[in-house]
Amino acid sequence: MEEELLFDRVKTGIPGLDGILHGGFIRGNNILVSGSAGTGKTIMCLQYIVSGIINYNEPGVFVTSEELPYELRREALQFGWDLKKLEEEGKLIIIDAASAKAGLSTDEKYAIRRGFEVNELAEQIYTAVNQIQAKRLVLDSLSGLDIKINDQQALRVAIFKISALLRELGVTSIMTSEMLDGHSFSRYGVEEFIAQGVILLHLKEQDGELRRSLIVLKMRSTAHSLRRYPFEITSLGIVVMPGEEI
Ligand SMILES: Nc1ncnc2c1ncn2[C@@H]1O[C@H](COP(=O)(O)OP(=O)(O)OP(=O)(O)O)[C@@H](O)[C@H]1O
Ligand SMILES: [Mg+2]
Repeated sequence: MEEELLFDRVKTGIPGLDGILHGGFIRGNNILVSGSAGTGKTIMCLQYIVSGIINYNEPGVFVTSEELPYELRREALQFGWDLKKLEEEGKLIIIDAASAKAGLSTDEKYAIRRGFEVNELAEQIYTAVNQIQAKRLVLDSLSGLDIKINDQQALRVAIFKISALLRELGVTSIMTSEMLDGHSFSRYGVEEFIAQGVILLHLKEQDGELRRSLIVLKMRSTAHSLRRYPFEITSLGIVVMPGEEI
């Protein structure tokens, strides 16, 4: 396919997803993964980072604003992903953006220590990416950063700043956001315009059973599938079923 030759692709490593994306994310792009609670956003982010390190030798940075780092390490272990080991090998850095918000002190080397302030986050991201020459980054989640939303303009500027920094650093990144009752595709209603790509995760009851599915809403500069695909969370992580349509 022509666009596969034009742009360098970053394989997500999530079974079934790269085909839907015609080869993966475009290198350097910033992708929004949006969905309501429990749809699999954090697991998708973990898988993207871990697969990048293990299968593609691309170090990664994980900014966590909702789960504490120890919770994230524990969640990852369920799928056989040993974050501690990857951190010790210098291939992964977790930035703790959750403790301060919860009023907890933290021993983490990389942490936001005050309330949310975009420049402090930018500084931490910049240092961490350079420290391990990271190629991938996750910000899980934007909604958890505790940006005060009473000032829409300031909010837009903050998200835009983070997104611009990520592009300047050349990392291929995922930001997550919570979707509120289907009115908008994101928490603040601006993320989907700033990101170059948007993937929506759904969890819906069908015939008395909850079913997971995803759809690629936008992916600038590339063709992508417009269908909705079912996926499962297995003991090895997310598996998308490209063959089926629901
Ligand atoms: N080991 C596992 N095997 C299968 N499914 C699991 C496993 N662990 C978690 N899940 C499923 O994944 C869901 C949580 O996924 P995840 O934490 O990625 O969601 P999320 O979209 O990040 O949610 P939130 O908005 O609350 O952060 C659980 O509700 C559960 O249904
Ligand atoms: Mg989550």
